[in-house]
Amino acid sequence: MYPLVPGIQIRHAIPQDAVHVGLVLRSVLSPNQYHYERNIGAQGCLNFVATSVDHSVVGFSSLLLDASPDTGPDVWRQYPLYVGVMAVAPAWQRRGIGSQLLRRTIEEARRERPHYAFTYLEVEHNNSAIRLYERLGFEKLGENKGSWLMRRSTQLSHDI
Ligand SMILES: CC(C)(COP(=O)(O)OP(=O)(O)OC[C@H]1O[C@@H](n2cnc3c(N)ncnc32)[C@H](O)[C@@H]1OP(=O)(O)O)[C@@H](O)C(=O)NCCC(=O)NCCS
Repeated sequence: MYPLVPGIQIRHAIPQDAVHVGLVLRSVLSPNQYHYERNIGAQGCLNFVATSVDHSVVGFSSLLLDASPDTGPDVWRQYPLYVGVMAVAPAWQRRGIGSQLLRRTIEEARRERPHYAFTYLEVEHNNSAIRLYERLGFEKLGENKGSWLMRRSTQLSHDI
């Protein structure tokens, strides 16, 4: 586990963060991917930013609270409490920020939807973030098009 660097804060994302979140996302994800900063302010979504000591945005996570299978077959529509994206700007990676963002995301998932047993996410087979997710209690549940579907008990203490 990496020690969290001093001055990093995790807070709810606000609309003014969207441009900065977009820059973080484009620094680590393909430009063709969905622009997850659109989730900020969207109904049924909880979004978090990690900020550095000068308040600039260095990380982002987005959690979908409820399933919406009636709107399409995508995996992310099938599961409530689905972590849609995790991103930390390259210069800030490997300092515990991603883990801290995910802990906060899980904690808020439990607070918002205590009756849902699991929190889910998907991760590509070759992504070393799998280790991070396993450290925080996620288990592989199944495969889909080169990705693992992982889940973690929502009740499990996040303090691991
Ligand atoms: C995954 C990610 C959010 C982790 O953020 P982070 O702040 O580096 O995470 P932490 O410092 O808490 O933990 C580091 C762990 O993340 C994992 N990791 C995954 N990809 C990594 C990368 N490119 N660089 C560093 N760590 C990475 C590793 O398990 C690492 O632990 P290890 O060094 O023991 O292998 C970040 O690497 C990232 O934005 N990656 C690109 C986007 C992405 O793939 N997101 C996940 C999609 S499901």
